[in-house]
Amino acid sequence: MLYFDDKQSLVAEILARYPSSPQGKRSALMPLLREIQNAHGFVSEPHMAEVAALIGTTATEVRSVLSFYSTYHTMPTGRFHLQVCSTLMCALAGSDELWDHLTETLDVQPGEVTADGFSVQRVECLGSCGTAPMLQLNDEGYYEGVTRARCDSLIAAMRAGSAPETDHPVPVVVDADGRQFLATGEAVGANTDSLYPLSTKPKSASSGGSV
Ligand code: FES
Repeated sequence: MLYFDDKQSLVAEILARYPSSPQGKRSALMPLLREIQNAHGFVSEPHMAEVAALIGTTATEVRSVLSFYSTYHTMPTGRFHLQVCSTLMCALAGSDELWDHLTETLDVQPGEVTADGFSVQRVECLGSCGTAPMLQLNDEGYYEGVTRARCDSLIAAMRAGSAPETDHPVPVVVDADGRQFLATGEAVGANTDSLYPLSTKPKSASSGGSV
């Protein structure tokens, strides 16, 4: 059975967020992928084909989107998925050394999951450059200023069963409806209520100058 076979109302609800045109339908790609990843931890090849069929595109295009965003995974991840920022500021502050230490300590490489539930990934800037080097735990939060000693204590705590509280939650989270929120709970980003056809003026520009 495919993932969405018994979730047709959910599919309909997600598709209804976007215009019914072929292009609009394809806009449902990311929230559909998010549903699968939330359930399985990653998006497999059969799931890519399933989503492609739902929105009228190809599995190749679905894969190309997946591969662009480090937040989507095409292979299983562990209970503790540790993502090390490797962009310039973190690199200058020692993220390469942190990565080597982390992978050697856990004896794991990207795409693998250890028996005790660790997986690792190098990612681009996570917007915490002032506290480099840093790493992100799952979709939950950031550990900042991670020295080797701190890395060791984080791993030890996780191996003991629970991750220490992160220094900050991930700045923007996406809820089940695809809406974006800051850690403070403030809604950010566009939602379907704020969109309007290009042929019309936005509500805020109903008077005055041209748009
Ligand atoms: S460079 Fe690492 S968080 Fe920005």
